[in-house]
Amino acid sequence: MTRRRQIYEGKAKILYEGPEPGTIIQYFKDDATAFNAQKRGTINGKGVINNRISEYVFTRLSHIGIPTHFIRRLNMREQLVRQVEIVPIEVVVRNVAAGSICTRLGLEEGEPLPHTLIEYCYKDDALGDPLIAEEHIACFGWASNEEMQDIASMAIRVNDFLCGMFAAINIRLVDFKLEFGRIYDGDFSRVILADEISPDGCRLWDMTSGEKLDKDRFRRDLGGEEEAYQEVARRLGLLQNDD
Ligand code: C5P
Repeated sequence: MTRRRQIYEGKAKILYEGPEPGTIIQYFKDDATAFNAQKRGTINGKGVINNRISEYVFTRLSHIGIPTHFIRRLNMREQLVRQVEIVPIEVVVRNVAAGSICTRLGLEEGEPLPHTLIEYCYKDDALGDPLIAEEHIACFGWASNEEMQDIASMAIRVNDFLCGMFAAINIRLVDFKLEFGRIYDGDFSRVILADEISPDGCRLWDMTSGEKLDKDRFRRDLGGEEEAYQEVARRLGLLQNDD
């Protein structure tokens, strides 16, 4: 048996070389970090749940025509994805004020925003993923104008779809983060949705009680993070039984 080649280990995932050229295996860990990895911990079973939730969400998104890196889930903690050249930008979509925008702009958590807001951060752990303007992206050539148009329109479509999908299970999609990657076809390239979509990178509030069903439980030491992730998976119909 040969050992797989590890390509990268991140805070919540490990990437291995895939079985065919141009493929990668994404392994979902239980490790949780917050505040740029200053706070570290474990959420038991998180990797298994995020693998399932992300598979579900990416599959639904592909059905509405969003191109994604997802190929198939391999097992409890791994999925096969297309290898992409990651665009070094984190795309944050916000519907309701929460988290860093509250501190930055003095907003009250839970205030609905006048309209959906897209923010961009430069993906660099050492710098703490700083907020950037589109001018920075153009200036430093992190993505072309055409790519940014595709990214923004995909982000809005993903948001519209996910808001409805979560509303149907009584969850408000407050905000979330997306990452995109470039794939090449001869002389041409295009951007597709990459990384994962799970309660690690989304704020999800129960519409009735306002209860947080996402990583803020870990960030803020609220407890019950395992149950919260399970509850999201359960409402999406991804758990075998209801107990
Ligand atoms: O921290 P902030 O309020 O800017 O986060 C906005 C949204 O983006 C949250 O849902 C958070 O989980 C997600 N996010 C992320 N990874 C980051 C930064 C933010 O998943 N590095």
